[in-house]
Amino acid sequence: MIQASEFARFKHTPMVMATGYDYPFARILEEAGVDVILVGDSLANVVLGLSSTREVGMDTMSIFVAAAARGATRTHILADMPYGSDSDPAKAVANGRRFLQLGAHSVKLEGAKLEAIKALTSEGIPVVGHLGLLPQTAKSFKQVGREPPERDEVLRSADALVKAGAIGMVLEHMAFDLAAQVTRAVPVPTIGIGAGRDVDGQVLVLHDFLGLHPGPIPPFAKAFAGLHGAALAGAEEYCRAVRERRFPEK
Ligand code: KIV
Repeated sequence: MIQASEFARFKHTPMVMATGYDYPFARILEEAGVDVILVGDSLANVVLGLSSTREVGMDTMSIFVAAAARGATRTHILADMPYGSDSDPAKAVANGRRFLQLGAHSVKLEGAKLEAIKALTSEGIPVVGHLGLLPQTAKSFKQVGREPPERDEVLRSADALVKAGAIGMVLEHMAFDLAAQVTRAVPVPTIGIGAGRDVDGQVLVLHDFLGLHPGPIPPFAKAFAGLHGAALAGAEEYCRAVRERRFPEK
């Protein structure tokens, strides 16, 4: 189990982070040797079929954090703070504590919410930051950091996250050279998703990298397996076997 205090060593060794939301897949990710399981609020989209991550709150996230923690008892569980759960420092601390009680080891916050991050870390709740595309508040899904003012803001935020006590940061859908610049500038590991190769680790959404979607995946993701096809074939064969009275067998 990687402790929050050990994140610094992933400045030199690639960190493998994957989203995982439930008991069976958390078990698989642990068996595969993933370093950190992120119970991301992307579950709103990929598990619950909702159109925005803003549609899930603490109660829903708590069910999945607890399920993932039951499935992966020897892996670092990073719980995503859902929209609104970190809107002020006291709320962030209460919700962060709730996640830790359910088996998470750290929490992730979108954006430079410095007061909330300071409050969490001073209460012993480890925080991973998240810069670049911030799905909870993004107005567009375009790559972040193409223009100088946006680049400066990302660099300033990265520095501020470290000063506030973040143990690492996710860089999402960010201009690759900017992600590389942030990675060089900060002493904590950067974990990229659509941020190129010059970051310290990578994170992907489970349903993308296992091919659980029937449709296209983001261009920066890669399907390392084709579970949608395998599941469909199994379900179709079950239908045929019942209809043709081949199951149950004699
Ligand atoms: O919720 C999520 O899955 C995330 C990743 C995209 C990093 O925040």
